[in-house]
This record gives sequence, C-alpha cells and structure tokens, in this order.
Amino acid sequence: MTAQIISGTEMAKTIRAALAEEVAQLKAVGVEPGLAVVLVGDDPASHSYVKGKQKACAEVGIRSFLYSFPKTVDEETLLAQIRALNADSAVHGILVQLPLPEHIREWSVIETIAPEKDVDGFHPINVGKMMIGQRAFLPCTPHGVVAMVKSAGIDIVGKHVVVIGRSNIVGKPVGQLFLREHATVTYTHSKTNDLAAITRQADILIVAAGKARLIGPEHVKPGAVVIDVGVNRLENGKLCGDVDFEAVKEVAGYITPVPGGVGPMTITMLLHNTIEAARELAAK
Ligand code: GUN
Repeated sequence: MTAQIISGTEMAKTIRAALAEEVAQLKAVGVEPGLAVVLVGDDPASHSYVKGKQKACAEVGIRSFLYSFPKTVDEETLLAQIRALNADSAVHGILVQLPLPEHIREWSVIETIAPEKDVDGFHPINVGKMMIGQRAFLPCTPHGVVAMVKSAGIDIVGKHVVVIGRSNIVGKPVGQLFLREHATVTYTHSKTNDLAAITRQADILIVAAGKARLIGPEHVKPGAVVIDVGVNRLENGKLCGDVDFEAVKEVAGYITPVPGGVGPMTITMLLHNTIEAARELAAK
C-alpha cells in the first residue's frame, strides 16, 4: 500500500478562500490589512519566497509593501526602516526574510520588530508566549505543519512525534506546538547517534534537516506520518525535500510532497497572522 498524500496546495486553497472573506469583512469596516516585507541581498531562494508571499497576499486582498536592500546595507539602516514600519499605521505585519548577511545581527533585527506586528512569530516575546501557551503569533511553518496533520484527520494526542532539525524557525518551535497538542516529542539533529533507530519509533516524523533526500524508507516505521519541511534545489534545477519521496511513500501511511506540501501552508499561516494583526491593531 502506498501512503496517502497530504496536499498542502489543496488545504491552502480552502483556507485562503476563507481568509479572503475575512479580509473583505475587515475592508468593509475600513481596515485594509498590510504586510511589509524586508528583503536584503540577492539570494535567489529568498527572492522566490518573497515573490510567493506577495502573490499570496494579493490573492486574498492583503496589501504588501516590499523594502529591498543591497547585501551591503548596514544594520542601522535596516533597524531604522523597521522602526519606521513599526510606526506606520498602514502596516500590520512586518516580515524580514531570513537569512541575513553575516555582518547583520539577526537577533537585533528581530528584536526591533514590534511584537504586535511580528507575523513570523520570531520575536523573543512571541517565542516565550508560545512556549508557555499564551496567545501569540505562531511561527508560520510549524503552525502550518500542525494544521496539515490535524486537517488530514490524524490524531496527535499521545503520539510519538520525532523532529529532525533544531532551528529557531522550524525544528524547535514545531516540537513545542506538538507538545501543546499532547504528543510525546523527541528532538534529533545532525549530531544525533543512530538517527534511524530513533526516527523508526516515530508515529509522526517531522523532517526539517535541510539535506536533500536524507530520509529513506529505513528511517520510517510502516504506516507513519511523514512531513517533509525540506526545500532543496537539485543540480537539475528541480526542487526536492529532505525525504526520498518515491521510496518513503511505499512505507509511510501519510506523506507530504515537495513542492506542494508544507510550503503553501507556511504562506497561508503568514496571511492568517497578518489578518489577525490587522484585526487586533485596528481594535486598539
Ligand atoms: N527564511 C526561511 N523561512 C523563513 C520564514 O518563515 N520567515 C522568514 N522571515 N524568513 C525565512
């Protein structure tokens, strides 16, 4: 039996239709949600992600503003731009596309974003609130992953979730969100001994390692749910995940494709957060 494919594209379509309705309702009361995107340098992947985010905004009726800087920009210029956006009432969400050039301190940039406009959920205030279960902007990819598992009708309570990867953007927070859903969570990473012995215990395996085709059928328990967060560009220009999709789909119970899996859901959660930010800022 081959795995059921969880289509992020399909789920995103359904959710975005509902979000477009919410935007229409906000506009009817004079609130037009606005997202400011800050892009530094000329990394093609970052440019492509930003384009995708802006296109998705337009689709649901969110205004987006792009602020592009050369990779040589100094930190203070960037911080000044963020402070201006914090004060701009047409802007409800601020997103600084990562990674940033090495001479810029990422934490300094993130901490300058007003927490109430931090639609990525990266500010320490939002990270802390998420950790202790207070209302906060949830980071988009982890939130999208949990939403996908839930909408596929998969029960999370009591399940063993194994996370591969420990980044601040995906690995660490996705484990926390599953913990909130009453899963038992194990973190693994590039230094983990005998990775396969651990991943084979997973009922739900979240792969965010950033390594093309790291995970094969030998890493997966028959019937497990496999969520592939990886986005890698192969030499032939094609995108592929961290999971060997063709081989693993013969073992897993559910699997997400790349592209068309987690990516569209990440962007959908960004739209959701921006609408929430607009609603809350307008009510102040
Ligand atoms: N770079 C990779 N993923 C993300 C993300 O979710 N948000 C931002 N701002 N940058 C990223």
